[in-house]
Parts: sequence; C-alpha cells; structure tokens
Amino acid sequence: MSQFTLEPHPNPVSPEARAALVEAPSFGTVFTDHMARINWSAGGAGWHSHRITPYGPLQLDPAAAVLHYAQEIFEGLKAYRWADGSIRTFRPAANAERFARSARRLALPELPPEDFIDALHALVEVDQAWVPSKPGTSLYLRPFMFAAEPFIGVRAAHEVFFLVIASPVGAYFKGGVAPVSIWVDQTYHRAGPGGTGAAKCGGNYAASLVSQEEAYSHGCEQVLFLDAATSTTLEELGGMNVAAVMADGSVVTPPTSGTILEGVTRSSLVQLIRDRGREVAERPIELAGLLEAIKMGQVVEVFACGTAAVVTPVGRLAGTDFDVTVADGAPGALTLSLYEELTGIQYGLREDKHGWTHRLL
Ligand code: COI
Repeated sequence: MSQFTLEPHPNPVSPEARAALVEAPSFGTVFTDHMARINWSAGGAGWHSHRITPYGPLQLDPAAAVLHYAQEIFEGLKAYRWADGSIRTFRPAANAERFARSARRLALPELPPEDFIDALHALVEVDQAWVPSKPGTSLYLRPFMFAAEPFIGVRAAHEVFFLVIASPVGAYFKGGVAPVSIWVDQTYHRAGPGGTGAAKCGGNYAASLVSQEEAYSHGCEQVLFLDAATSTTLEELGGMNVAAVMADGSVVTPPTSGTILEGVTRSSLVQLIRDRGREVAERPIELAGLLEAIKMGQVVEVFACGTAAVVTPVGRLAGTDFDVTVADGAPGALTLSLYEELTGIQYGLREDKHGWTHRLL
C-alpha cells in the first residue's frame, strides 16, 4: 500500500532514553528517530522518491531558493495515543487540503492529499514508540515543503522537498491551560489583503517575530495582530486564531476572509459550539469595541485556539494605551468545556459525531 521505502536509523535513541524524553515533553524541542521525505522535480518527474529516512541534518545547497526567497509552507497536526492502544490523528484531510491551498499561493507543486496522509502513516508506524501517553501529550507532526533548487533567480523552484518530522509534545504554553496575556501590536501587521495571510507559510511567522518579541517584553505570551487596512479589527495571534464569548453565550471570531489562517481547530470549535445550540458569528471584531465590552462585562471570555495551543484562555489584553483583564483573569467556563470536549474527541474519550478522528495505527 505505502510507497515509502524505509531506511532504518542505524543508531536510534535507546528505549530508556526515549522513555525519559517522552515522559514530560515540552513543545518542539525533541524529535523522533525518523522523518518522511518525498521529492518533486519539474519537467514531468513530479513527486518521487518516497522514503522514511533517519532523522538528521539535510544536505542543502547554499543557493537553495528557500534560503533566499522563503518559498516554503508547513502544516501542524498531532497523533494521540488512545487507551485502547491505537494511535489516531485529527482531520488530516483538512490539513492536506489546506497544504494544497498554501502550495498554490506559494507557487509550489500541490502534494496529492493521499501522499500527505500516507507520509503520516508511514512515519508514525516506524516511530510509534515516540507517541506519548500522558494526558495532554501527543506526537506533533510537522509536514513542510520548500524550494530546494540551487538557483537565485526569482522564480518558482524546479526542485522541491517535502518532509514530515515528528516531536513528542506537551502544552504549547508553559502554564498549560492557564490564562495567557496578549500584546496587541499597533505598529506592525501580519498580513494584508491579497497577501499570504491565509497560507500557512513560514514568511507569515517570520513577519510576526518582532511583534512576538515585543509581546514578551511586556510580559505577554502571544501577540495579536490587527487588520492591515484600518488597524482597527482583530485578525489572529502570532501562531493561533482568537475568539470571544459574549455574556449571552454567543461567540464571535474574525472571518476567514483571506488574511488569517483557516484554522482546523478554529473550524472544529465553531462546529462544536453550534452543536450546543449556541450562535457563532464569524465577523470583524473592532478592538475598541471589544475592550469596552470586556470592561462592561458584555464579553466574558476570550480564547486562543490552534493545533499547538488547543484551546487556551486569554486573561489579559494589553497595548500601548490600554491594559484590560478579561473576567478577573480566570479561565472561562465555555473555554474550559470546549477544551475538554475537543481533547475528549481527540483522545477517544468522547463520541466523535463528525468522524474527525483518523486511525493511524
Ligand atoms: C499549530 O498550531 O500547529 C501551528 O502551526 C502553530 C505553530 C506555529 C506552533
């Protein structure tokens, strides 16, 4: 079935050392023994050389176009160990389809969704012992694709590499599901109309880093970007989407109108909230109105969401001329119950009504 040939790691991490690494993982610092690879060449060869190889440094020409023009895209999803011993992932077809959309925007070749999903299967099969089992832990899967051709003229590359690496992870934020503080950037924007905001490309994250550093300097864990055209409405955080809960129980979140990432976690939560009979409005949210509504008690919760962040309460919004605490800084009831419901589905503890879980092993 799988077209992936296996080149086993000659010297994998010992079971004892692996158990220690998997025991209490942080986010994104430890990687498994192997990686999946597929190459693409223009001129008819297309996608070829499907392999699982030892994890390790790549040999890349210094002229590889990605190093100069950032022609790169990536994805993020997780593999969860269930109590019955199986290993599942969550809505991989949604990531595969978004990866294809990102590829089109970055003039990269589209990887067939079957190859994307087969690569996850092949890698998780060989590195299954790296999937942690403690509550809240998982194996983070990072598919990515970039221009590998050594050519510094500016055009779409003719040689492209696709890889998947994997990392045992715990919570993205040090405090786990504790409320985070958000710095609202009133200087820089992440993306503009017609730009690459909806694509999951490294350049969007590169553009966010100076703002993220600014956020850290103000004691905040994440930055929130405003729209590039008017600097008045919320877009998304540096690495996740954002939503607010109104006192009447309805939820608002910025629309996916081209400048923000179409989060898989975001769309799953929109569905779960609607399943509860609550209204979700995907509409522009004015920053000034939001701050006022928080102060007046009309907005009772704010949360961040993403594959890495899952569902994280926001306790504070700060900027150059404001510093507002959301509902005394305590995690909101809806935020916590959405975290429980979503992770319950992902770990096989709750009914999966929408058929979102996908068995890898
Ligand atoms: C994810 O949530 O998986 C992401 O890709 C965000 C990230 C850059 C950590």
